[in-house]
Amino acid sequence: MKILGIETSCDETAAAVVENGTKILSNMVASSSEMHAKTGGIIPEQAARQQVLSIIPVVEAALSKAKLEPSKINTIGVTVGPGLVGSLLVGIETAKTLSLLWKKPIVPVNHLAAHIYANWLETENKPKLPALALVVSGGHTDLVLMKEHGKLNWIGGTRDDAAGEAFDKTARLLGLSYPGGPAIAAKAAEYKNNKSKLKMFPRPMIKRDNFDWSFSGLKTAVARQISSNEKRVSKEKLAAEIQEAIVDVLVKKSLRAINKFKPKSFLLAGGVAANKRLRERFQLEIRNTDFRVPSPKLCTDNAAYIACFAHYNHSPVPWPKITVNPQLTITGQA
Ligand code: KG4
Ligand code: ZN
Repeated sequence: MKILGIETSCDETAAAVVENGTKILSNMVASSSEMHAKTGGIIPEQAARQQVLSIIPVVEAALSKAKLEPSKINTIGVTVGPGLVGSLLVGIETAKTLSLLWKKPIVPVNHLAAHIYANWLETENKPKLPALALVVSGGHTDLVLMKEHGKLNWIGGTRDDAAGEAFDKTARLLGLSYPGGPAIAAKAAEYKNNKSKLKMFPRPMIKRDNFDWSFSGLKTAVARQISSNEKRVSKEKLAAEIQEAIVDVLVKKSLRAINKFKPKSFLLAGGVAANKRLRERFQLEIRNTDFRVPSPKLCTDNAAYIACFAHYNHSPVPWPKITVNPQLTITGQA
């Protein structure tokens, strides 16, 4: 079974071919993030216009890298939400057109749930279910219990900003480039002192007996620190403090959830899962549960996990019924 995945939810235009839900035959990503770096964030209209320019070359590149004729593709999987409506529509309309042209079924894909499937890629040793999954992306932070494919129960999430958003917004306050996550991580890596002493910023709700997070206060605390800067803290230390504050609350609450739900595996996913410190902390602190995290380039947006989701949740929908769903939640039906 060879599935063509198409992903255009935000500023990446991506297409990939995945065989049998695991083997990546091609995985092409064109990003307009450099364009957005100039404005310090995404302007949706510009992102959508760039999607229109990139989609056909990216799909062609994915097929040619996989050395496949369209006739050899079994199914098309396409992101229908959540995301920016203009960007999403480009992928959806392309998928519908190709489906008609090539006479192939389409599987609508939930981008957030699909992030988790990066853990099924390029491995013979599939994660065991039930699994607990933490999806940390630019706009979402969700903890879900996955009993079987297609059955996700929401356990907790952010009450305000997402973890990725906290990285992006605080990076901006530090004068670092967009996207902020990799920029903060790079700056923090220059801070060589003891990480266990990084306690400058608050860890909201860390003691509460739930699985929710709140990141908006971090932004305020960082802004206050920068404007006073009475302690003359270096940018490297501030970046390390920000990263540690975000990582700390993500790890502590997830460990509590692992303790309560006792899943067979814990799956980290989403763009923030590319963060080295977050991966390292989970690696060190998770015991007696199989911890999985995809390689960093499979964590950030790409179409390989979209194709993988379509493999394990293979419910094709007639193309006229496929519609954009910008507000889709992680447990929602795509
Ligand atoms: O999943 P993703 O690629 O796109 C969305 O679906 O949102 O996540 C993007 C988010 C951005 O907020 C970006 O700053 C963050 O992931 N990110 C990171 C790292 N790489 C990407 N955050 C922390 N450390 C990183 N290395
Ligand atoms: Zn994403």
